[in-house]
Amino acid sequence: GKAGHDHYMHKEIHEQPNALRQAISGRIDELAGNASLDIALDDRFLQAIDEIHIVACGTSYHAGLYAKELLEELVDVSTRVDLASEYEVRNGHDTRRTLVVAVTQSGETADTLSAIRRAKASGMTTLAVTNTVGSTITREVDDTLFIKAGPEIGVAATKTFVSQVTALALFATYLGRLRETVSACEGVSILENVRQLPNAVQSILDAEGRIRRLAKTYTDSDAFFFIGRGPAYPVALESALKLKEISYEHAEGFAAGELKHGPLALVTENTPVLAFLNQSASPEETLNNVKEVESRGAPVICLSTSGGTESFCDHTIEIPDIGRLEPLVANVALQLFAYHVADQMNRPIDKPRNLAKSVTVE
Ligand code: M6R
Repeated sequence: GKAGHDHYMHKEIHEQPNALRQAISGRIDELAGNASLDIALDDRFLQAIDEIHIVACGTSYHAGLYAKELLEELVDVSTRVDLASEYEVRNGHDTRRTLVVAVTQSGETADTLSAIRRAKASGMTTLAVTNTVGSTITREVDDTLFIKAGPEIGVAATKTFVSQVTALALFATYLGRLRETVSACEGVSILENVRQLPNAVQSILDAEGRIRRLAKTYTDSDAFFFIGRGPAYPVALESALKLKEISYEHAEGFAAGELKHGPLALVTENTPVLAFLNQSASPEETLNNVKEVESRGAPVICLSTSGGTESFCDHTIEIPDIGRLEPLVANVALQLFAYHVADQMNRPIDKPRNLAKSVTVE
């Protein structure tokens, strides 16, 4: 059952610290500064790959975009992320040195299965990152990395997103150590950030009252915009998807630097902008983008690690600074924001209209 929560989504948002502990448990080798993962893929293959293709849909696609940031930085391997329904195998890369990673919570998404089948048919090695033991995808790929989030009932993916990114952060560390692009010392520091995640997420859950009040203040807005850079950009996309999915309100995520190239025309006094000022990606530049929207009269809600409240932000939600994973923690604040906007509007949060938990048609 819902264990006293009004919705499964709310329960699952609150389960995140434990889901993360479960995802991490036994997978950190502190002495070696490495992730201990049961990866069956051959070490020599993983050392030789020169390209990674990530295929996924929806929220899992956003987890893939986040993982690209981590893989390119830590593993130094060019990584491309495709919506599974758009994935085409083209020439111009060595299929024997390409790893195709399918990210799928359910392991049953038809678009993702079909992308993996195309990859396999052209001789590429495949890895699934999934929550579901025994799912179809696990029978089709060469290897599987489980995210161990526990069952997710709400149609909106919450704890599985956070667990997917965490599992992929462990995988990036593992690959980086194997390929010697990450030193033991760097490994220790990345894994330290991973270990801090559950408590960092808990600190956001503890601020729910304030986030609920903010959601209430802005429920009647015309639209909601989310902006971020670096790893916060996919989180901006994800936050917008969550809000539109469960509240039916217009919400869009943009790369912070891209606003002025068009979307700024949408910004008014009645379109709150939620901005990630993550230290991991030029917060000063994002702050300049915040000034641009503030001068158009838009209310600005900032998610910031800097400790101080920025004068251009109408509201600041403080995010614990845990390096590259900080936008993941900020995401939890916006899960709660989306939840409370939808709850204000009495939406059927666990079963939004027109949507299904797992999409088994292409
Ligand atoms: O099971 P999958 O991770 O393959 O599902 C992919 C998408 O259908 C899914 O993430 C969808 O976008 C969520 N309902 C969003 O909350």
